[in-house]
Amino acid sequence: MITKTSMKSHGCGEIRKQDIGNKVTVAGWVSAVRDLGGIIFVEVRDKSGLFQLVSDPQKNPEVYDIFQKLRDEFVIKATGIVTERPAETYNDKLPTGDVEVYPTSIEILSTAQLLPFPLNTDGVNEDIRLKYRYLDLRQDKVLSCLKLRHEIVKTIRNYLNNQNFLEVETPILIKTTPEGARDYLVPSRVQPGKFYALPQSPQIFKQLLMVGGIERYYQIAKCFRDEDLRADRQPEFTQVDIEMSFVEQQDIMDMVEGLLRDVFKLVGYDTPEKLPVITYKEAMDKYGSDRPDLRFGLELFDIGDIIMESNFEIIKDTLKKGGIVRAIKIPGIASYSRKEMDDLTKLAISFGAKALANIMYLEDGSAKSPVLKFLTPEQAEQIKERAGAKAGDVIFFVADKPKVTYDVMGRFRLYFGDKLGLIDPDAHSLLWVVDFPMFEYSEEDNRYVSVHHPFTMPNLEDIDKMESDPANCRSIAYDIVYNGNELGGGSVRIHSSEIQQRVFKALGLSDEETQEKFGFMINAFKYGTPPHAGLALGLDRVVALLAKTNSIRDVIAFPKNSAAKCLMTDAPARASEEQLRELHLRLTTKVNQ
Ligand code: AMO
Ligand code: AMP
Repeated sequence: MITKTSMKSHGCGEIRKQDIGNKVTVAGWVSAVRDLGGIIFVEVRDKSGLFQLVSDPQKNPEVYDIFQKLRDEFVIKATGIVTERPAETYNDKLPTGDVEVYPTSIEILSTAQLLPFPLNTDGVNEDIRLKYRYLDLRQDKVLSCLKLRHEIVKTIRNYLNNQNFLEVETPILIKTTPEGARDYLVPSRVQPGKFYALPQSPQIFKQLLMVGGIERYYQIAKCFRDEDLRADRQPEFTQVDIEMSFVEQQDIMDMVEGLLRDVFKLVGYDTPEKLPVITYKEAMDKYGSDRPDLRFGLELFDIGDIIMESNFEIIKDTLKKGGIVRAIKIPGIASYSRKEMDDLTKLAISFGAKALANIMYLEDGSAKSPVLKFLTPEQAEQIKERAGAKAGDVIFFVADKPKVTYDVMGRFRLYFGDKLGLIDPDAHSLLWVVDFPMFEYSEEDNRYVSVHHPFTMPNLEDIDKMESDPANCRSIAYDIVYNGNELGGGSVRIHSSEIQQRVFKALGLSDEETQEKFGFMINAFKYGTPPHAGLALGLDRVVALLAKTNSIRDVIAFPKNSAAKCLMTDAPARASEEQLRELHLRLTTKVNQ
């Protein structure tokens, strides 16, 4: 038996009918005690599963005395001969459900207080679970997520090892990584006033490994990002980080498809031989998202050309100023009440829209809408035709800046996909999104910033747009998307210092800033740099999606809550005066207890 130790002969979940007549010793936690007044049944649990122990005072009074003392979550060890249960008491739900042991000896190894919450019961507050995470880990659901995580990591390592990758660890105390989130800083004691940053990813180091001739690198890497947290974001998370030399985009895509084929097999999904590929532009235009969920339709469509011919001045004005309009047809909801329609407008506004227009197609064939007054009957008909709308359908549209329009309509689409039950929970939508833009304008910083990171290769067809039309310069960057979630992203990297300098310039970085931030990297690239490319998968997201759970907290042994706090250890915590002094730090803001 795999779980045999000096204290147990079998795992609780491992004993079977063929063990009948053999002496076994099991050890684990008391999972349930049923006292039938005369006979006591105890379920004992360890990592391998559950097993039933029975005690009868007639057969063994000493053992029965100890059985009477057992409470939930006591840790015990028991020895006895495996017997068959009476057939009518078989428990079909357990692999050990047809056998049991009347122990000849039993020992209480450790007692337990009443737990702060009952195990394997729905609806326990997550904060309580996280505070007592070590108890939470005893629950079937959490344990099964960790087991799946382990299987996935094992599969990933196997795959990459077989493809001749080298697993290399990169440092945690580093300078900074240009991934766009805020850094976690660590003050240096020996270098007063200086700080390390924790890596937002191993990006810089994996590229330097390529300069170093490693050719195929991977790492199951811890990353740290101080950003607003959501269900799919943690301040520290794990990437499956990959980099390869002498490759192009297609090589990385093929490698990752092979990897994901093995990973998805673990949950019984045979991924297609070639995954679908769509461009960023198409993803935004049709689905309002760069991580589209293609398990259902409800594609967006453009009616800007029709509106421009109409009297809809307020929207025409938006379009003239560089805005766009996108529409969506939602089938079968023309019977919605006034209140339901008002609620949808409120929803769109909560997504960031200024307004939401609708046209309802009633059963009698007529159209009803507050915006028909701006349209000629022909224009109204053109919109209906483009939508393919029929009686009972409703068209919604929003006009705004492209970012807002896409975002609102993309979220609106997802809302209806879910609400109308259009998403088959057993369907899979795994695809590549390619041709991401190189830059996006940051209103906050008043300049262009990298969409991916500044080492991303511009699309050679667009390279001259870097200076003349940065907004329309595409990069050689790609994301892998599953059921509407970004599983991972990567890019072909720049290996020419001339192009790299131009990118830094386009980002508005002066030579001095470039030198200060990335001087070591630019230097390294002067000594013979192979063309290289890579990608990182968010491991926590991969596991959470395969485990069909909504939050990556469920697949991380000790996660932080949405305020980046560890409720179990109470990190982050105060530092003592002494510690601060040693680190040459003084708090300038009064902080409440
Ligand atoms: P990127 O920033 O896209 O790329 O990150 C890669 C993947 O990591 C996951 N991820 C996260 N998971 C949990 N919590 C977070 N806070 C979080 N942030 C990101 C996502 C994402 O797709 N160095 C590049 C990769 C490369 O170019 O090779 C990078 O880090 O699943
Ligand atoms: P009214 O208020 O009668 O002039 O009609 C204006 C209509 O246009 C309302 O139905 C609004 O919802 C709609 N509308 C105005 N601005 C926008 C916009 N930016 N996007 C979508 N619909 C709009």
